[in-house]
Amino acid sequence: MSPSKQVEQFDALLQQGEPVLALAPMQDVTDLPFWRVIRSRGGADVYYTEYFRVHADSRLEKPILRSITENPTGRPVIAQMIGNSIPDLVRTARELQQHPIAAVDLNLGCPAPIVYKKCAGGGLLREPERIDRILGALRESVDKRFTVKTRLGFDNPAVFDELLPIFSKHDLDLLTVHGRTVKEMYRSAVHYDFIARAVAETGCPVLANGNVYSAAKAESVLAETGARGLMIGRGIIRNPWLFTQIRQHLRGETPVWPSGREVLD
Ligand SMILES: Cc1cc2nc3c(=O)[nH]c(=O)nc-3n(C[C@H](O)[C@H](O)[C@H](O)COP(=O)(O)O)c2cc1C
Repeated sequence: MSPSKQVEQFDALLQQGEPVLALAPMQDVTDLPFWRVIRSRGGADVYYTEYFRVHADSRLEKPILRSITENPTGRPVIAQMIGNSIPDLVRTARELQQHPIAAVDLNLGCPAPIVYKKCAGGGLLREPERIDRILGALRESVDKRFTVKTRLGFDNPAVFDELLPIFSKHDLDLLTVHGRTVKEMYRSAVHYDFIARAVAETGCPVLANGNVYSAAKAESVLAETGARGLMIGRGIIRNPWLFTQIRQHLRGETPVWPSGREVLD
């Protein structure tokens, strides 16, 4: 797909009535062969790359770049970056935009200690003013669409009250909210009520993320949060047909496996 078509198709997705279904970025999992597998089972509406690490000496990592240059999905791609140095994030965003992508995304959620101790990913959630500066610089330098993927806070979701006005101020094209703090990692309950607050208070389209493992759960999360769509990670590893089943379920059809065998949700 040509670079301009990427943005066009992404905008059209956000304008259509159907919920947008995004494949989550998952480091060392959602690579090019994984995208092919998901695509062959119906596929996502939009695909996030694994994150590009950004620092003074960073170069676009070739295996991740291949997902973009050889994108087999026919769908828009969002290139995710992780880092905290404004000049290097701006430089990398410019480099990424030379390639066929719809948007550049900033990771504000990675809970790996090696990342957050360097104040990147989820570590940045301890410094809202720094996030404000980074988003301001990226908003200015990204001509395509600019998106953010965040958690609720570092160890306390109270910071979400400070984050939401910052997200609104920078006029994000899409915000994904994983409804946990960094310290909650991947196992706690997901706080969907906070995702509903992001929908109500930011004015930008929001994707709800966390623990969607079935078509019925997808429907209930959409209803509870009012989100524009869903981002799904581990549910797709477990069941690569999940995107197709969600679409069928929301249309009122009985979700089926490709073989026609009925799925018991
Ligand atoms: C193995 C693995 C790798 C991940 N890598 C990334 C990543 O590169 N960037 C990111 O924003 N989130 C990453 N995540 C978080 C997921 O994108 C997602 O937010 C999280 O798994 C919750 O969604 P789920 O319950 O649908 O899996 C990763 C998660 C897992 C399990």
